[in-house]
Amino acid sequence: MPENPTGPTVSAVIVLAAGAGTRMRSAVPKVLHLIAGRPLLWHALSAAAAMRPEQVVAVIGHGREQVGEYLDQHHPEVRRAVQSEQLGTGHAVTCALTDAGQVEGTVLVTYGDVPLLTAETLKALVTEHQRAGNAVTVLTAVLDDAAGYGRIVRDAEGGLASIVEHRDADDEQRRIREINSGIYAFDGVVLTDALGRLTSANAQGERYLTDVVAIARGDGHRVGTLVTGDAAETEGVNDRVQLADLSRRLNARLVRRAQLSGVTVLDPANTWIHTDVQVGPDTVLLPGTSLEAGTIIGSGCTIGPETTLSDCRVADGATVLRSHCTGATIGADVTVGPYSFLRAGADLGARSKAGAFVEIKKSSIGAGSKVPHLSYIGDATIGPGTNIGAGTITANYDGDSKFPTTIGENVFVGSDSTLVAPVSLSDGAYVAAGSTVTDDVDPGDLAVARGRQRAVKGWVLRRRPDSAAARSALTAGAVPEPELPPQDAIAPDGRKNSAPRASVADSEVSGEDLPA
Ligand code: UD1
Ligand code: CA
Repeated sequence: MPENPTGPTVSAVIVLAAGAGTRMRSAVPKVLHLIAGRPLLWHALSAAAAMRPEQVVAVIGHGREQVGEYLDQHHPEVRRAVQSEQLGTGHAVTCALTDAGQVEGTVLVTYGDVPLLTAETLKALVTEHQRAGNAVTVLTAVLDDAAGYGRIVRDAEGGLASIVEHRDADDEQRRIREINSGIYAFDGVVLTDALGRLTSANAQGERYLTDVVAIARGDGHRVGTLVTGDAAETEGVNDRVQLADLSRRLNARLVRRAQLSGVTVLDPANTWIHTDVQVGPDTVLLPGTSLEAGTIIGSGCTIGPETTLSDCRVADGATVLRSHCTGATIGADVTVGPYSFLRAGADLGARSKAGAFVEIKKSSIGAGSKVPHLSYIGDATIGPGTNIGAGTITANYDGDSKFPTTIGENVFVGSDSTLVAPVSLSDGAYVAAGSTVTDDVDPGDLAVARGRQRAVKGWVLRRRPDSAAARSALTAGAVPEPELPPQDAIAPDGRKNSAPRASVADSEVSGEDLPA
């Protein structure tokens, strides 16, 4: 049996997850619905794994293809027992034990749809179970409204006598407010024996796991309870209202944990932290921040408001303002936003900047480099100390394939440039604003790749003679040309050209007004 340095020894944890979850009204099996960024089942399995049992067995039934696939991918170490027909919780545990073989020692039973149960509570349950020498120890809770639950029936001395299901209970039993959470510690041998003696002589025609209590007691074994202080820990999800409610309560727990570890959270009700997210001390989370699964944030950062970080790494001292980042690495003292979108593989070096309305995908930005405004950077490598002017686009996609852009250190790219990949700008290169760069630029060269500016003299006075622009031009000293070309003659009504109207592009600019 493996050593469990932090707690008592457990042989097996059986997680029941075969139920239909009809009230979710979903194509997705209930236990795969997410809470704090992970499936309900993940939460149950992580509490189970924290007990370091010899084995964890998930009982699956409804949606078992999807649940089995999820287990294959994320929890390959978990055994699965298939319960093809849901004949009751007792039958479900029988399926698990049939699969697991004879199990001695302490066996825990939990539910796949009870996500707030903590490993601490499970440990307390096992500790009490072993301390008291019980064959069965039931985790119970006291509720204001116990309707629907199995009730804890006690004997004259206050000891656990039996569990009676709501549907089988009489009026007096229904007034009992102490309920069965459905989470138990069993002695494996007693459990196996009692399961073989269950009948389905009850209101639901099911084999009730709860009947093991009375059977064990009848055989002279000790049975007992542990009353939980926090009933939320034992609550299950049956519909999406409960899903949202438990989501909020789990989030409150995760936010509180962050706060107690030194994170400032301005608006806890409006800040979402997924499970297993890490945030360093003296980081400030502003309202509307969501830190999603896989995110790790250093200390002294400012995140938000209205920012989502999903699967991101953020180093100390970074600021991420009103932005959406997924799969990004944000270095120390970097600033991001407002309104930026960092996608998978965006890797921002220390002290670099992705400013307002910047999208970066699969690109590394060197230390201290800046992409301050309105840019798209994709499949690019940018060295340190480089400045990318406003509106720069890496044209990385030809409609068929993606191509890389390589930009060296201390490069200056002028505003509104298009870098047509594959292309590289060597160290110390400059690009003139408005360039469309298609050829590599050598170290220290200035690339100018744009139409040369020219003036079409007197155009406004000829072609827009009565316009506000013409009046302003005259006031500013524009001189009307003495002779008008024939197609520019003013019509008799004084407002329209006599020639058919043509665009600037296909008449004057490309025609006789072109400078020599
Ligand atoms: C059960 C308990 C009840 C307790 C309540 C707590 C029994 C007979 N009753 O009630 O005392 O107060 O839980 O929520 O145990 N499951 C299977 N296979 C089955 C039946 C159920 O895997 O054949 C799983 C479900 O997926 C679920 C859990 O067991 O995760 C409980 O099933 P559910 O139907 O919700 O339990 P209840 O009968 O309402
Ligand atoms: Ca239930």
